[in-house]
Amino acid sequence: MLKYVLFILYVSVSDVRCFLPNCIRENQYKFYSFPVEGCSDYLKDLCTPVESGRFEVIGQPKIVKIKMTSVLPTCAFYGIDSLQHIYGVKSNIKVLAKGSFVNLPNLKSIILSYNQITEIRELIFKNVSTEKLDLSWNNIFSVDPDAFKEVHNLKELDLSRNSLLTVPVNHLSRSISTLNLAYNQLTRIAINSLKFTNLTSVDLSNNKIENIAISFFYPIEMFDLTNNQLYDIDYVEITSVNRFRIGLNNFRRTPQYLENINANNIGIYPNPWSCEALPDLWRSITSLKYNIETTGTASDTMEICTNITTVSVQRGGPKSCTSDHQCPTSKTCKVGQCLDPCSYFCHRSSVCKTKNHQFTCTCPKGTKSDPMDLTGSCKKVECYVGSHCSRDKVCIQNRCAKIAATSTTPRPSTTTETNIPESEDIKPWWFEDIPSESPGGLMKQLPPVPHYAPIPLIPVPLD
Ligand SMILES: *[C@@H]1O[C@H](CO)[C@@H](O)[C@H](O)[C@H]1NC(C)=O
Ligand SMILES: *[C@@H]1O[C@H](CO)[C@@H](O)[C@H](O)[C@H]1NC(C)=O
Ligand SMILES: *[C@@H]1O[C@H](CO)[C@@H](O)[C@H](O)[C@H]1NC(C)=O
Repeated sequence: MLKYVLFILYVSVSDVRCFLPNCIRENQYKFYSFPVEGCSDYLKDLCTPVESGRFEVIGQPKIVKIKMTSVLPTCAFYGIDSLQHIYGVKSNIKVLAKGSFVNLPNLKSIILSYNQITEIRELIFKNVSTEKLDLSWNNIFSVDPDAFKEVHNLKELDLSRNSLLTVPVNHLSRSISTLNLAYNQLTRIAINSLKFTNLTSVDLSNNKIENIAISFFYPIEMFDLTNNQLYDIDYVEITSVNRFRIGLNNFRRTPQYLENINANNIGIYPNPWSCEALPDLWRSITSLKYNIETTGTASDTMEICTNITTVSVQRGGPKSCTSDHQCPTSKTCKVGQCLDPCSYFCHRSSVCKTKNHQFTCTCPKGTKSDPMDLTGSCKKVECYVGSHCSRDKVCIQNRCAKIAATSTTPRPSTTTETNIPESEDIKPWWFEDIPSESPGGLMKQLPPVPHYAPIPLIPVPLD
């Protein structure tokens, strides 16, 4: 009987809301290890390979770049107060486990685009503060209403180029200012500004939206509904909007509530406007003092109207597809369309090469990119890091300089300009702590590291 009662008690205590990941170091190391590169100011140019759960070996990492892992496990990033960026583009990630991101107070960005993530469940983020969360170019079809409940200070949320049928808009972080839901499968959406205070830019373009209701009781910058399936707007009320776009939809007549939009610029072309309705639309737009936004080919279609009842708008969208093979090799199939990853991922100063629907960004000859710069911009400098120089030189203020003193042991090719103690006696504090089989080769590559106070890993009792 007692056992039974305890079981009931256990079940109720282990209810999801009480989820506390057991982030003790042994667990992080033994069970949750995957390869990353950690970059800190101290080891700036190294962006040293390290196993997850062992971040303290590189001091206070600022950036963690995920190499390859299909699962981001529980406690993958735990309590690294120094961490500012978690970067995992094209890292083959399929699953974000509960508690992957725990106690991260100083993040600026989490970038996990171009992976194969399908769901964003609740409790993945626990006590996390980040300004930017980029989950674009995945296969996400579902986002739990509470998914971002513990993501604080979020400003920019990018869920574009996924397979979302619906988004729990009014449960998203209250603090967001930019919401990108472009290139999904959304069919209806209602956005009410009562749930937000700072949201000023909403991109819903390239979905399948047929029904929309919008109300914003404060001025916003942009609301983009380009390339959807709208015949009308169910409801709209916007205090003030700089750019409002409804081009490439099915509008034939002046949308209802047009006078509630209060826009500076409005994009209405192309649409199958009825010739009878067009003068009325013009009158409305003129009296409301909206500027017609002209972009690219829009001016060619300006005067186009049609008296035919059933019309199909020439969709400017990309070629349709069901798999990568149906697209040119330079493109990737997302939401049934061949999209170009190059324009999205590679910095304009770099060269995007594609092979088998995969892209790589490389710097043109004579330029280099800073491993600490996640935008990947290429600049004309001799070096950012030691490995940009020949073996007998080091990188000092972006120039390769000869090493002054000769050392008996050959310098690892990645040694930096930083004053690394040469003495063999100084062993990192964790020296004895790392089993010989792993992390592979790390000991040989790392220069001795000064003693850092270990990041406290407080065992959390299992619930
Ligand atoms: C959140 O994380 C910070 C930094 O790691 C920590 O100091 C704080 O106690 C955590 N808060 C909660 C509620 O767990
Ligand atoms: C909205 O933005 C302002 C100014 O950046 C900031 O002070 C405020 O905390 C933000 N509101 C929320 C709910 O994050
Ligand atoms: C459309 O129909 C109206 C009324 O039938 C007619 O006056 C007008 O000329 C037509 N416009 C075009 C472009 O065919």
